[in-house]
Amino acid sequence: MTLRLGASDAAEGGRLLAEGKLVAFPTETVYGLGADACDPRAVAALYAAKGRPAFNPLISHVLSIEAAAALGRLDGDARRLAEAFWPGPLTLVVPAAEECAVCDLARAGLDTIALRAPDHPVARAVIAAANRPIVAPSANRSGRVSPTSAAHVLEDLDDRIDAVVDGGETRVGLESTIVACLGGAPRLLRPGALPRDAIERVLGRSLADPSDDSDAPLAPGRLSSHYAPAAAVRLDATEIGPGEAYLGFGPDGGLADRAAAFESLSPTGDLAAAAARLFACLRRLDATGVARIAVAPIPNEGLGEAIRDRLARAAAPRQS
Ligand code: TXA
Ligand code: MG
Repeated sequence: MTLRLGASDAAEGGRLLAEGKLVAFPTETVYGLGADACDPRAVAALYAAKGRPAFNPLISHVLSIEAAAALGRLDGDARRLAEAFWPGPLTLVVPAAEECAVCDLARAGLDTIALRAPDHPVARAVIAAANRPIVAPSANRSGRVSPTSAAHVLEDLDDRIDAVVDGGETRVGLESTIVACLGGAPRLLRPGALPRDAIERVLGRSLADPSDDSDAPLAPGRLSSHYAPAAAVRLDATEIGPGEAYLGFGPDGGLADRAAAFESLSPTGDLAAAAARLFACLRRLDATGVARIAVAPIPNEGLGEAIRDRLARAAAPRQS
């Protein structure tokens, strides 16, 4: 049985984590599935519950720059970014500290570590009560759409995890932006909740792409099918095919009436609203049983870069 906890029971969630249990909780981006980052048995159970390949490393969640600096080398650009954006939806990949307490399994054996200080009162209360770094991948079965509510978590993971702390719907709705600071120009490994231009303003230069350096550790899953609903997904649709559902953005131009099912990311074309609704809309359209979802064009600016990235992965050829 998966225990349901309310937001006021966040400390109980933290205590369960300290005992090696698996507890899902909300962050400002999406719900995470937490485990004690220093306990290889808990981390192994987390990979198993998600069905996640163990070569895909996890983000360690902490409360402060100071706590992060005990786990990874935060200097220069990395420290500047942490000071500007933590707590918040930015994950930094940096060289692991020599005495890093996070277990090898959580880092997939890499000598780097992904660190983030979330900005959500429930996430912070959970981590504070656990009193240790907490790894937390999105709380979905591997390869599926990320959860933005406790109900989504239970759709994928009921009875596979010990508890979920219900803190309502998440504010941003897209995962954190991941930037690698490993010497040379910082690289954008995953577009996300923090838009590229905000980061570039603080750095005073452009972010490099992962492909700019062939030795770059890619955020695994970046190129392959991911965030996948059961239905096929077709991008930049300006017409509706027979039997297709339509996921709109801005005025629907009459396409909604011709679609087998319809959701709008934002009737007014607001990117922040669209980000917050994206995963829930995909789940709802999927639940209608349609074979294909046609998606309106989304502008590639601000949060649009991350929305387009998630949709492109949802549309990628499936591995199975
Ligand atoms: O918003 C978020 O980041 C959410 C919430 C729960 O914090 N978490 C999340 O975790 O999205 P996950 O596991 O679904 O995605 C983390 C990504 C993975 O693509 C992983 O490959 C990458 O981070 N990653 C982790 N450690 C890395 C490292 N050392 N080098 C490169 N990529 C890394
Ligand atoms: Mg994920």
